[in-house]
Amino acid sequence: MADVIIRQAVPEDTADIYEIEQICFPDPWSRDSIRYELEENERAFYLVAEHSGKVVGYMGLWWIMDEGHITNVAVRPGYRNRKIAEGIIRVMIEHTVGAGILHHTLEVRRDNQAAINLYEKFGFEVEGVREGYYQFDGQDALIMWRHATDEEIAALTPETAEETAEKTDNTGGYQPGKPLRKQMPKRHRSKK
Ligand SMILES: CC(C)(COP(=O)(O)OP(=O)(O)OC[C@H]1O[C@@H](n2cnc3c(N)ncnc32)[C@H](O)[C@@H]1OP(=O)(O)O)[C@@H](O)C(=O)NCCC(=O)NCCS
Repeated sequence: MADVIIRQAVPEDTADIYEIEQICFPDPWSRDSIRYELEENERAFYLVAEHSGKVVGYMGLWWIMDEGHITNVAVRPGYRNRKIAEGIIRVMIEHTVGAGILHHTLEVRRDNQAAINLYEKFGFEVEGVREGYYQFDGQDALIMWRHATDEEIAALTPETAEETAEKTDNTGGYQPGKPLRKQMPKRHRSKK
């Protein structure tokens, strides 16, 4: 992690994130989807990791009430096993829990042991399975959740705690209990 900076992504990062998507996933998001995330989606929050001025990894999240739905996490192959993903997730969790996101969730391929190990380090646990979820090969998705600890909740500022408790339906039609991705336009569906 030495010499790695983690910062919020800006629209100028679109090309780098798109390139990493193409390298890391068999069914990458389109450049326009990423641009939309960074420029227009008010519920999206993205971080990038930079090494010597080069974007080497990123992570995205959608903020829905007091839940954070992680869209993607990826690190360029030449930069893996240096705790870069771990650093990005740590910053993401600290920042978003501090802002009142108490529950984080994601979907991960059943055979992606590296990613599963990574998420487990942060307290994510498997709470469900979507069978045959990934269209290109029929692989199952594990649904993992992480819930804020009592210590994290106790550390929230009184204002944040109050806002979190009072959150109402500001989700633009999102229906809790229905798979999030099935409610998103196709170009926004995540492909992990
Ligand atoms: C998964 C991924 C993001 C990990 O990035 P990384 O920067 O290499 O990960 P880190 O060095 O921060 O590793 C942190 C932890 O993740 C787990 N991990 C990472 N790579 C692993 C591997 N090859 N095998 C097993 N566990 C692994 C370990 O628990 C590790 O902690 P440890 O070193 O104490 O054992 C990276 O491999 C990647 O981009 N993969 C392709 C995209 C992808 O699958 N993203 C996840 C979609 S759900």
